[in-house]
Amino acid sequence: MNKPIIALDFASKQQVEAFLAQFSEPLFVKVGMELYFQEGPELVRFIKSQGHSIFLDLKLHDIPNTVESAMKGLANLGVDLVNVHAAGGLEMMKAAKRGLAGSETKLIAVTQLTSTSESQMHEDQLVYVSLEESVLHYAKRAMQAGLDGVVCSVLEAEAIGEACGQNFLRVTPGIRPATVSVDDQKRVATPAQARAKGSTHIVVGRAITKAENPADSYAQIREEWSGKF
Ligand code: C5P
Repeated sequence: MNKPIIALDFASKQQVEAFLAQFSEPLFVKVGMELYFQEGPELVRFIKSQGHSIFLDLKLHDIPNTVESAMKGLANLGVDLVNVHAAGGLEMMKAAKRGLAGSETKLIAVTQLTSTSESQMHEDQLVYVSLEESVLHYAKRAMQAGLDGVVCSVLEAEAIGEACGQNFLRVTPGIRPATVSVDDQKRVATPAQARAKGSTHIVVGRAITKAENPADSYAQIREEWSGKF
């Protein structure tokens, strides 16, 4: 089972160092915009030097040429996973993939954010299909563009696996053990539900980072995810 990916949604390197110091094993962590825009590539190099795997969650969405060039830069960082918004279109996704040519970095696409509800999608995007249909459409486009998978909610992971194949990555945020607050997420699931519904990776942020004992919380989530209880 892949390790749960811990979302390092912190504002500074000091906070990251203090957080990582609580673990004695190699982790799979996610660096998102909040941290990357403060600390930049240096922090990514630091985390890598500590032996951790990295999902650099910058959700690129721009014209194809710009995304291709940006991906060339990210390929040099040697991270494990990067992403774009599928809403940027087929050509943009293909360009992103070209930018990563020759690197080991895997590329996935964000479908609909897990903080988006169906009514919000209708109101904000004027997309009048069901949320699942929209997510499935984006997943198929990502596959067509040659991407390795998508970011989606657990609720759509199974259908995407059926449509795009079991090797197509389904990275699912919005994961909470049953006892933890849902915060601003709309489409949430527990680690065990994620396993049962065919997620290939789970992303967990606040349920670990804001826990009283992050290492304990991580261990429990990992066990639930790997089916030990
Ligand atoms: O704290 P929480 O577990 O809700 O954090 C989820 C993480 O996953 C955040 O870093 C958020 O930006 C990210 N994410 C998400 N939904 C997506 C893509 C990424 O929540 N569709």
